[in-house]
Amino acid sequence: MEFAGRDIISIRDFSREEIDYMLKIAKAMEPLAHEGSDMLKGKILATLFFEPSTRTRLSFEAAMHKLGGSTIGFAEAEIASVRKGENLADTVRTVENYADVIAIRHPLEGAARLAAEFAKVPIINGGSGAEEHPTQALLDLYTILKEKGTIDNLKIALVGDLRYGRTVHSLAYALSNYNVELYLVSPESLKMRREVLEEIKGKIPVIEETNIGKVISDLDVLYVTRIQKERFPDPAEYIKVKGSYKIDLELLRNAKKDMIILHPLPRVDEIAPDVDNTPHARYFQQVWNGIVVRMALLALILGAVK
Ligand code: NCD
Repeated sequence: MEFAGRDIISIRDFSREEIDYMLKIAKAMEPLAHEGSDMLKGKILATLFFEPSTRTRLSFEAAMHKLGGSTIGFAEAEIASVRKGENLADTVRTVENYADVIAIRHPLEGAARLAAEFAKVPIINGGSGAEEHPTQALLDLYTILKEKGTIDNLKIALVGDLRYGRTVHSLAYALSNYNVELYLVSPESLKMRREVLEEIKGKIPVIEETNIGKVISDLDVLYVTRIQKERFPDPAEYIKVKGSYKIDLELLRNAKKDMIILHPLPRVDEIAPDVDNTPHARYFQQVWNGIVVRMALLALILGAVK
């Protein structure tokens, strides 16, 4: 397995063996996330974020700092030369002179792949439109493994906006490498993208459902997502599905005691605040896991860990 110099564009570019290895390195990063390290001293990460972000960008930056590296970048494309009409290829061919690795988030599908074609340094996709968010999928898997001790033999539901949500696309692809049963729970108009569904259906059992109440008692993991308002071509369509799912204490009465709830965050109204105090809630632990997973990815692709 070779990670040094590699791009992370789609989770589909990685085998189960490679994913398991990345999760293993993430675990080894846990003590370093507390104590710090100078493993990446002298290395620079550039974060080019053309879309809003809190966790993805800050956790990449924190991960780099914890390993002794440093960061540059912008979180507001409005202030970069993009505003003057610079294209992505030129931006990337500029920034690669300043950085050893580039994390990019862009509203257009295919943007990260395009950047990787032009860049000499590794590109990490921090979210490409509604398409994919591979590093989120890795931290989701890491959280499941850490909390449940296994990814295999679980019943996992992805709930909410399966059409425009990029995290669920990457996570569904990732989970199809494991021996899981996948429940896809969404309103009719927000069903899982056909291309994702077709690929995963050939590998694992998939159950599509609109009513979360019908399946809640089966589940080991409930992965909840926000309805991606900003990606709806027609605001009227958003109004129709707004607030379709509400995970609340009433619903959870029928859940297994050890079922865990994950969410990539930000949450809007899909998980009631009083759920935070139940033993099911793991979405803030998930945020911590984002740090160790990103430390592992940076160390691997910069060749500091073999
Ligand atoms: C997600 C994203 O940006 O795709 N957030 C994240 O990276 N943790 C989810 C979302 O915006 O709903």
